[in-house]
Amino acid sequence: GIDRGFIDALPKAELHLHIEGTLEPELKLELAERNGVDIGQSSIEDVRASYEFTDLTSFLAVYYPAMEVLRTEDDFRDLALAYLRRAAADGVVRAEIFFDPQAHTSRGVPFATVIDGLWSAVQEAPSLGVDAALILCFLRDMSAQSAMETLEASLPYRDRIVGVGLDSDERGNPPEKFAAVFARAKEVGYRLTMHCDIDQVGSIENIGTVLHEIGVERIDHGTNILEDPALVAEAVERGIGFTCCPVSNSFVTADMKGAEILALSRAGAKVSIASDDPAYFGGYVGDNIEALAAAQELTREDVVRLARDSIEISWADDAAKARWL
Ligand code: ADE
Ligand code: ZN
Repeated sequence: GIDRGFIDALPKAELHLHIEGTLEPELKLELAERNGVDIGQSSIEDVRASYEFTDLTSFLAVYYPAMEVLRTEDDFRDLALAYLRRAAADGVVRAEIFFDPQAHTSRGVPFATVIDGLWSAVQEAPSLGVDAALILCFLRDMSAQSAMETLEASLPYRDRIVGVGLDSDERGNPPEKFAAVFARAKEVGYRLTMHCDIDQVGSIENIGTVLHEIGVERIDHGTNILEDPALVAEAVERGIGFTCCPVSNSFVTADMKGAEILALSRAGAKVSIASDDPAYFGGYVGDNIEALAAAQELTREDVVRLARDSIEISWADDAAKARWL
């Protein structure tokens, strides 16, 4: 097997990480108390017991209510700093952090509170050994109009945001619903990525749409592309990045999809490994690589390639990439 020290020592980029999914039970309780929010849980065990799900829908039903404890700029800053410290311990040198403004603005927390708190942590990240960036995600189960309004609200903070993504429930919310939003995002200079979740109804059609109509540079998850070898060849040719999350996959589907992740990487696609929502799925990036390595008997070359690919498909500047590669 591949030892953990080898994995941790490799410089890597974490490119698929929802900051709201890093809310550990300890911090949730601390913020609930600080803000006087009654979450109906009073111990770590209570909170852990509530982190119970069998698929994406049941996960999201736990995930959104938990955010109620996030109210102030300091809350968002503390959340992101806790993640960054944990990521640094795993050898993450670059973190591109998803955040869901609509999950906060929809419950009365201003966009400015969210972005100011996260930005404060991003500015402090280099002192922890991490180069950090923010990716604004739209919630695909909300309207395209709400996404467009969120995009417009982000423009005063354009310099703090590297790109946009699309998350939440894919069922009934295909990528073309957001074609105009992503076209506008591209126009203002945001980089583009989108979730194409594992084994969704219409997965392969949605992957075709994001590649041909939306024009993304990366796909979050996306391993169902293997159903269409011509699309795989195209993704390889175009250098499309895939951000795969084995531990998360094993919670929201029947397995970690390790064979698919490895097949895609060995086919020549740029594949990175990430943790998605580590506080909920119980594994940060090192745990994800370790789990995949054990399940698929990865070679050291495989692990090195995954780490290098994560740097290559990151949206860091070229000088930084050259230092890490
Ligand atoms: N938002 C946070 N985690 C997610 C996931 N695993 N899939 C879709 N949306 C999400
Ligand atoms: Zn995700």
